[in-house]
Amino acid sequence: MTLQKKPSVPSHIQKLTPYVAGKTIAEVKETYKPKQISKLASNENRLGFSPAVSEAVKDALKEIQDYPDPIARKLKQAIAEKNAVTPNEVLVAAGSESIISILCRTFLEKESECVTADATFVGFFVQAGVMGATIKKVPVTDRYKFDVDGMLAAIDENTKMVYIANPNNPTGTYLDKEEFQKLVDGVPDDVLLMADEAYFEFAKGVDDYPQALDYRTDNMVILRTFSKAYGLAGFRIGYCIANEELITQMMKTKLTFEPTATAQAAALAAYGDDEFLQKGIDVVEGGKKDLYRFFDEQKVEYMPSISNSVMMILENEQKAVDFTQAMLEEGVILRRINAFGLPNCVRITIGLDNEMQHFKESFLKVKEEILV
Ligand SMILES: Cc1ncc(COP(=O)(O)O)c(C=O)c1O
Repeated sequence: MTLQKKPSVPSHIQKLTPYVAGKTIAEVKETYKPKQISKLASNENRLGFSPAVSEAVKDALKEIQDYPDPIARKLKQAIAEKNAVTPNEVLVAAGSESIISILCRTFLEKESECVTADATFVGFFVQAGVMGATIKKVPVTDRYKFDVDGMLAAIDENTKMVYIANPNNPTGTYLDKEEFQKLVDGVPDDVLLMADEAYFEFAKGVDDYPQALDYRTDNMVILRTFSKAYGLAGFRIGYCIANEELITQMMKTKLTFEPTATAQAAALAAYGDDEFLQKGIDVVEGGKKDLYRFFDEQKVEYMPSISNSVMMILENEQKAVDFTQAMLEEGVILRRINAFGLPNCVRITIGLDNEMQHFKESFLKVKEEILV
C-alpha cells in the first residue's frame, strides 16, 4: 500500500540502497536442489569456530536477563594485553561495520568529505553516505591496489576521514610497508585515518605487510573483527584501537549495550584459542595456493591475495553475472562485487578442501558455456 502522507526522508538517505542479501543455504537447496552446497560468498571462516566458544556462550546465557557490560571490560583487557596497548585505547562494538558507523557518526557531518578508493569495502560507502558526507573514490591502480599518491592528492581542507582496508576487500591486495608509511606521513594530523584490518590475522605473516599498530599516530584508528579468522560473524563483534581521546568521543555514539553478552563471551573464548586460529589460517593458505594453480591451468585472471578470498577477473559484467548464477545452480555460492565497484569481478572465499573441490568441479562444468 502506498502511503498518502509519509515521513520525509532526507535526500542523502534516499540516495542509498538497502543491502541486498544473497541467497541463504536453505533457499539454494530449495531452488536448485544441488548435490552439495558450498557457501564461498561472505569471507566467513569455513572451518567454523573454536570449540571453547560453545561452553563460554552457555555460561553467558545463565545471566542473559542482565544487560551486557557496556564497555566489555574483560575482552578489552585481553585485547589490550595482546596488542601491548592500554584498555582505554580499545573500543569493542557489534562488528567492525558498527565501528565504521560509530566513526562516521562521531566525526562526520553533512559538509564532510572522505577519501577512499573506488574498489573497497562497501560498508564504508554506506555509513559515510548515511551521514550525508561526500566520498571521493580514487580509482585503484591497474593492479587493484590503493593509489596512495592519488589518495593524498585528493585530500583537501574539507577532508575529515581517509579509509583504507589493508588487506583490501574485495581485491585481497595490500599496501606494503613503504606505501603504508607514505600514506601515514601524508595524511594531515587533523584527518582521521581509518586502517581497517578485518583480515589482519591472514596477512600478518606476510613479510612486507605493515601492521598498522607499528605505524600508529594520534589520528589513526585500527579496526579489527572477530567475524573472519575467529569465525564469529554471526555474533557481530569487533574492536578498534586508537588514541584514548578518540575512543572517549566514540563512546558517545556507540549504542550503549552493544555487543551482546554472549558475543563478548564468545569473542573472549575465541581470542584465547591460538591453535584454532592457526588451523584456519593454514586452511586458507593451502586453499589459496591450490586455487592459484587451478586458475593458472585454466588461464583465469585473478589477483593474488593476502586475505581469505581471491578475486577472479572476468571479461565483462555479463560474464560475471552468468558465471555466478551458473555456479549457484551447482550449489557454489559466490559473491559478485559490483557494489564494491568491480562489476566484472567475482570473489571466492577460500573454503575447506571439499568445498574447493566442489568449486573446481563446478567451474569445469560451467566454463565452456560461460567463460570461453
Ligand atoms: C574490510 C572489511 N571491513 C569490515 C567488515 C565488516 O566486518 P564485521 O563482520 O566485523 O562487521 C568486512 C566484512 O566483510 C570487511 O571485509
